[in-house]
Amino acid sequence: MTSTTHPRRTTASRGVEPMPGPGLRDLPGIVIDHVRHGEAATDRLFERYGDVFRIGLRILPGTTSTVLLRDPTLVRPLFTASADEIDSTHANKILRHLYGERSLFLIDGHEHRRLRRILLPPLRSTALESWRETIVEVARNSARRLPSGEPVQLHPRMLADSLDIILRIALGVTEEERPRWVPPMTELLELALSPNAALQMVLRRVLRRPPWERMQRVLGECETLIYGEIARRRATPDQERHDLLALLMQAEGEPLTDVELRDQVMTMLIAGHETSATAVSWAIERLLRHPEALARATEEARSGDSDAYAEAVVLETLRLRPPIAVVGRVTRGTFQLGEWELPPGTLVSPFIRGIHESAALYDDPKAFRPERFLDATPPPYTLVPFGGGLHRCLGDRLAVFQSKLFLQTYLQEADLAPVSGSDEKIKRKAIAYVPGDGARVRVRRHAGAARTIRA
Ligand code: HEM
Repeated sequence: MTSTTHPRRTTASRGVEPMPGPGLRDLPGIVIDHVRHGEAATDRLFERYGDVFRIGLRILPGTTSTVLLRDPTLVRPLFTASADEIDSTHANKILRHLYGERSLFLIDGHEHRRLRRILLPPLRSTALESWRETIVEVARNSARRLPSGEPVQLHPRMLADSLDIILRIALGVTEEERPRWVPPMTELLELALSPNAALQMVLRRVLRRPPWERMQRVLGECETLIYGEIARRRATPDQERHDLLALLMQAEGEPLTDVELRDQVMTMLIAGHETSATAVSWAIERLLRHPEALARATEEARSGDSDAYAEAVVLETLRLRPPIAVVGRVTRGTFQLGEWELPPGTLVSPFIRGIHESAALYDDPKAFRPERFLDATPPPYTLVPFGGGLHRCLGDRLAVFQSKLFLQTYLQEADLAPVSGSDEKIKRKAIAYVPGDGARVRVRRHAGAARTIRA
């Protein structure tokens, strides 16, 4: 007999079979393996239990069990399921005190569709061109400040740069306004995205002491800035602005409340900051370990003729080093996923890198070969670093556009070399999976005038 919370399948030969997976007594070993070896421990679980397995643990409140999958045939049916069958918001609740209850991450239905309709056009390819100069300027300044000769970690620098960019795109923060915004936002994002932040969120009611209080204080400071900005714009409307907050405030139909505006702004800042910084850091880490690809990308960047190879590098990086490891979906009722019958309340998590490493989807799947994406658009649901379905990432085009521009500008500005020959480990932070050594590089030579600029 299987319990009603146990995913199962029925086969002609063996009758009802429970989904395989570790038992309770295996869990301490699994946790220790994850703490010690990070994502490699997840790979080991798939090798042991197959491409779909169950952990009999309620990882999230309100769920009954957890299913991890890397079977590529199950991605499309999961992502295309309706909101009546699958809840795509439940797993995001863990960060709701940051995003806010009205965040895109947490709502469904009419209001979700309406907000996406407002925000998508400015984040599509042609509209993004208006941000090209801003992004290149931030990237150029960043590359020129890299010290020569000594090892330097790119990831922390990319985090600062990416915050700069998302503050400009989401809120139109100008150079003069930066000093007011950057310190509290940096502190908030560091606290929110620290490796043990997720645990702190779960324990927040118990933890009536720092760092939770520190988080509340700095969150309050950031909210004061955002609400102040909204109030200023309500008092003196400016139709010329084209940042995301302006578009939300100018949208036709029922005006958004201050709280709704705050929640979307906070969502963009959190969703678009560390993910983008991590993608470009990994792209450079991967390129430096593949000299032929590095030479080709550098030649293209310096010729200024094309960005096709840079785009292929970004896509190949997102395939093998997706910044987000899993997305979470929760079944509302009994849900048939392929041959598996999932009971209500099952948290289903597609393991993104595992799907991308499937030999059924890609030749030589573990090899870093940007060429595979040259002149070839991956078929739907085969490249899913941005998730999929109704809640698919809203900033996917911006992320690729920004990463590509950063990569090309860095390659134009500096000759980079790896500090060590071995691959950097994949390390978990709160949300993103980042280069374990912070994407360490050494600048061999700055190009042209850049050499005179000090860090
Ligand atoms: C390489 C960079 C990025 C990666 C890997 C990434 C990844 C993701 C993933 C996996 C999701 C969840 C999708 C799902 O549940 O199916 C998501 C959602 C989202 N992302 Fe991104 N993201 C990136 C950059 C950005 C940027 C730059 C923005 C800023 C506009 C952004 C805004 C959002 C928003 C608003 C959502 C929620 C969408 C919704 O629930 O309707 N992301 N992202």
